[in-house]
Amino acid sequence: MPLTPRNAHAALIPVLSNREIVPGIFRMAFEAPRLAAGAKPGQFVMLSIPPTHDPLLPRPFAVFNVDGQRVEILYRRVGKGTGLLSGMRTGDLLRVLGPLGNGFALPDPSVTSIVLAGGIGFASVHFLLLKLLKRQTAPTTLLYGVRSHEEIIPMESLDKKGLLIRVATEDGQQGVKGTVIDLLSTTLPRTENLPTATIESFACGPLAMLRAVAGRMKGLGMRAQFSMESRMACGYGVCQGCVIPFKGDDDPKQIKYRKVCTEGPVFAAEEICWDAIQE
Ligand SMILES: Cc1cc2nc3c(=O)[nH]c(=O)nc-3n(C[C@H](O)[C@H](O)[C@H](O)COP(=O)(O)OP(=O)(O)OC[C@H]3O[C@@H](n4cnc5c(N)ncnc54)[C@H](O)[C@@H]3O)c2cc1C
Ligand code: FES
Repeated sequence: MPLTPRNAHAALIPVLSNREIVPGIFRMAFEAPRLAAGAKPGQFVMLSIPPTHDPLLPRPFAVFNVDGQRVEILYRRVGKGTGLLSGMRTGDLLRVLGPLGNGFALPDPSVTSIVLAGGIGFASVHFLLLKLLKRQTAPTTLLYGVRSHEEIIPMESLDKKGLLIRVATEDGQQGVKGTVIDLLSTTLPRTENLPTATIESFACGPLAMLRAVAGRMKGLGMRAQFSMESRMACGYGVCQGCVIPFKGDDDPKQIKYRKVCTEGPVFAAEEICWDAIQE
């Protein structure tokens, strides 16, 4: 069942820390016991900075990590909202609404998981990876692609937990030279003798990456859950601003629209009408 603000909590919360961990990417922590207790991997929060209403609309961010009563987000500074966020200091107040959205459906522990992250899409799968590593008996692999090696997020929380991490950089300075799709091309043959029902993929990243991954997964008949992003105004189903196209129930050629904020952000890749999504 999609979560609505009735399940979410709105609160003014002091920032605990806000550090630039690699150039232009920040990790922010705040203490939010109710949010921490209720948040699931793949869910998100809407953040704004009181008392100003500038920018007018709150901004969505994935729950990156939950540690006791602390909740963390990982964000890239791209515009006005994230610019203001990056200037926040310990003790400054943040308006937080969440948890919002459906989150990833966790697979059976015996399922082999392939998690794909492109750029800041890593923020949406990090909490999922921690959960998978706790409960899966089958291997979990992370395929992580970034443009430059300078953008690689340190992974101390994942390193020692038996996760197979494969990195691709477009500048070729670390890992494989290329993208997540190149990593996928060399990873899939290793799963060839596993029945497709025993493998599941999870992904978040730029649209072009998700489109390409969806094509591969469809060809193999492999299950894929994607965390989708769209511009959001409210975050809880009121403004209709976040819709993306899906295949019709009876006729796959027909398009129906679904809200990323309340029906997503996680969707089965094969349901999305990729041809109708604008870049
Ligand atoms: C469910 C969800 C979870 C998200 N999680 C994260 C996260 O964990 N970390 C993170 O860094 N970002 C995340 N984002 C994207 C983040 O919300 C935007 O980067 C942020 O709203 C930009 O705000 P701004 O005011 O700084 O930029 P603006 O001034 O509004 O825009 C700056 C530039 O960013 C582009 N942009 C803004 N919002 C989006 C968006 N939603 N999708 C694609 N392009 C966008 C604009 O087109 C413009 O080019 C998430 C988005 C969604 C929908
Ligand atoms: S963001 Fe308003 S309906 Fe989804």
